[in-house]
Amino acid sequence: MISQHTKEQIESRIDIIDIIGSFIKLKKRGVNYLGLCPFHNERTPSFTVSPAKEIYKCFGCGKSGNSISFLMEHEKYSYVEAMRWLAGRYNVEIEETAVDPTVKEALQKADSLYIINGFARQFFSNALLQTEEGQDIALSYLRERGFTDNIIEKFQLGYCPQDRDSFARAATAAQYNKDYLIQAGLVVERNDQLVDNYRGRIIFPIHNQTGKVTGFGARIIGKNDKAPKYINTPENDIYIKSKILYGSYFARHAIDKADECLLVEGYTDVISLHQAGIENVVASGGTSLTPDQLRLIKKYTQNLVIVYDGDGAGIKAALRGLDLALEEGLNVQLVLIPDGEDPDSYVKKQGSENFRSFIAENKKDIVLFQLQVSLNDAGNDANKKNAVVNRIAETISKLNKTEDFTRQQDYIRQCSSILNVDEAGLNALVNKRIRERINKLEAKASIAESQQPPEAPAEEDEDSIALLNKDEQVERNVVRALLEFGSYAWADNQKVSEYIFNEFEENELSELIDNKQMLLIIETYKSWLNNNIDITPKAFLYHEDIELSKVVVGLMDTRYELSPNWKEHYDGPLLTREQLYREEVLSSINYLKLRKIKRLLDENQRDINKATTREEQIMLMQTHQRLKQLEMELTKNYGTVIFK
Ligand code: UTP
Ligand code: MN
Repeated sequence: MISQHTKEQIESRIDIIDIIGSFIKLKKRGVNYLGLCPFHNERTPSFTVSPAKEIYKCFGCGKSGNSISFLMEHEKYSYVEAMRWLAGRYNVEIEETAVDPTVKEALQKADSLYIINGFARQFFSNALLQTEEGQDIALSYLRERGFTDNIIEKFQLGYCPQDRDSFARAATAAQYNKDYLIQAGLVVERNDQLVDNYRGRIIFPIHNQTGKVTGFGARIIGKNDKAPKYINTPENDIYIKSKILYGSYFARHAIDKADECLLVEGYTDVISLHQAGIENVVASGGTSLTPDQLRLIKKYTQNLVIVYDGDGAGIKAALRGLDLALEEGLNVQLVLIPDGEDPDSYVKKQGSENFRSFIAENKKDIVLFQLQVSLNDAGNDANKKNAVVNRIAETISKLNKTEDFTRQQDYIRQCSSILNVDEAGLNALVNKRIRERINKLEAKASIAESQQPPEAPAEEDEDSIALLNKDEQVERNVVRALLEFGSYAWADNQKVSEYIFNEFEENELSELIDNKQMLLIIETYKSWLNNNIDITPKAFLYHEDIELSKVVVGLMDTRYELSPNWKEHYDGPLLTREQLYREEVLSSINYLKLRKIKRLLDENQRDINKATTREEQIMLMQTHQRLKQLEMELTKNYGTVIFK
């Protein structure tokens, strides 16, 4: 875990304009900065960044957050990855708190492998571009295939010299650890000597989501039937094949923007399409998609278009992942490249515009495609045909979210016509499958129900805040007062936060707050306070629980306005919000106390209704009087303070 100290150091250096400005163009507009929102397509900028509040908000699509959540949304980083990125940018050395030694070792090992890969990438790149051998053998080959120098540089392509051990010698001279060099797959050991693994090959570095090199694909130059065409990095701590999509680092923003991801088979397909300006493309390496890869795609889009050559092997692989993809909610289409071409050769022949329109015009729905293929396989065999019907019903039944309903009905119509079966019959079969699954789920849910916490309410946006009832606004005000003024002085030796918590009995405050998110903030605050953890204003804004931090951003974002009443009650110059914090704290607390009294009154009233003896009734009536008295006193105070 990254230490608290490191986190604070990073947070204190965060400059949101600098961070967001390194991804999108921002213009100063008053106290804020404005740019085109990276999260949705827009022509006029509505993406606002506030350096004072250290938050951003798009008034078009409603996305908002802090620097860290920006990196998480935009770069799809995890929290820890975002912190590492920031640490790198602001030269903060990362201190890890005592972690499990095995975890620590794994982290160190991963770091070492990344460093070695970085060194190797540089070495291969030099060998390609700066050495005579590289230029003569490899660079000329790449140019012959039509790759430009720009694209070679962008994808950081390289070359491993034919020499037995030129890389191994360079790496050893630079004192890299032998075991790690072997694990990275860069060298192999022969008779106690290190030998280069990728001799005489073109090198394709494979980047992870943050642009670091996790491994390599090494292609033989030209044709050679005796040696394998590609040698790939063996699985190791950082190269886990099932999680890698080649090109995803370079494609991520284009996929986001196009809301569509093209999937091709090979390294060279990805690179050629990029060169043609088609950048929303990744490669699977020809194998069927794994759940991890599907999830990676789903971070960016729901729409996957598989673009394979029509030779069969690749298509089979693609179809194997189909049910999984549907279950993940992906919308999958297929385009087959004709005439024995692959995307690489086809785009070079046709040019970028023709290629684009070919894709757009030839996208086939993969469910229908699969049905067609398996029907052809089944031929006239009635049993096989039956199996096809059952399987397609199963596949269609996986599309059972509300938003998929039209799609499901379309499939039923189209499939029944392809299969030449009764539409109502297929519909019934699909529904049967759905029912079966729901029954199973319900059986599971009824067991789990008692242990499940209720779902947190959805995130609130500005519009819905206007609709919130007063109770909820008050809860938000209390939390906002706590966050903004909690560390201010209330009295000698008492902070505002302490005052707030002291005004209520142990857990009472928590019981009075209904909104789960507000409750979470209050409880977190309290536990930090009890543990003497320093609560800086940023502690919540940059809370590791990104959901919580979003709620905090939402609170900060709501424009605060003085109530019109306030002006009536006050003749002097209008004070700033900070100067008014006492009023605000008092009014929020009073309101909560009123709420408590209201609840007690209700409860008491119920008791009165149930009371059977006269004595009981009198006692309860007295309680009622006392509560009413308290209520009046509070309302009197409350009348002078401010609420919208
Ligand atoms: P291709 O044979 O289509 O390779 O294999 P390619 O990358 O398009 O290369 P060119 O155009 O022939 O130069 C598709 C993918 O399958 C994996 C690689 O990931 C390759 O990019 N593959 C193929 C291997 O891993 N090993 C092999 O021997 C062949
Ligand atoms: Mn190819």
